[in-house]
Amino acid sequence: MNDSVKKIPAGLIDQDIDHAQYYSLDGTQDGQALIQGWVKDAIDDHLAKYPEDQRQSAIMPALTIVQNANNGHLTAQSMAEVADYLGVTSISVYEVATFYSMYEHSPVGQYKICVCKNISCMLRGSDELLDYLKEKFGVGLNEVSADGKYSIKEVECLGACGGAPAIYIGNDYYENVDPKRMDEILEGLE
Ligand code: FES
Repeated sequence: MNDSVKKIPAGLIDQDIDHAQYYSLDGTQDGQALIQGWVKDAIDDHLAKYPEDQRQSAIMPALTIVQNANNGHLTAQSMAEVADYLGVTSISVYEVATFYSMYEHSPVGQYKICVCKNISCMLRGSDELLDYLKEKFGVGLNEVSADGKYSIKEVECLGACGGAPAIYIGNDYYENVDPKRMDEILEGLE
């Protein structure tokens, strides 16, 4: 992926979308377009991998890029923009965006802590870890801490059952995470 994808230019973040529109699939809003500049370039990099009549193959990377550009979550407008730009139907984008758990439809913290909730991790303390995080940040699941830095999410098996409990934050995975290890990880984020 292009290094520029990591940069989030000022002015591209639009958190004032009416989420009621999200359910109507009518993404037409008056907000600033997201797919321009580095966002457009990054999507184009992915489109170049596929034949012109297979632009729908870029839905997942396009959603990821647009989500990153929108402070970590999708909106009706951003999904509609992806559909328009790729030349696919809105429902095609909506289906992908609502099926995969890595796409968010409400604001998240700067650091989204994803904790596996499946059996191996549960038996090895993921519930206690979640309780620890909720108390530490004063939030429930899928809520954002008052300083905007942290949110907590339960996710399905991460394929790291041998190192349960497992979590991921951004692109980094961690295993055998107890509250003490969690604090070390959080310190490393700063
Ligand atoms: S059950 Fe948690 S990683 Fe598999």
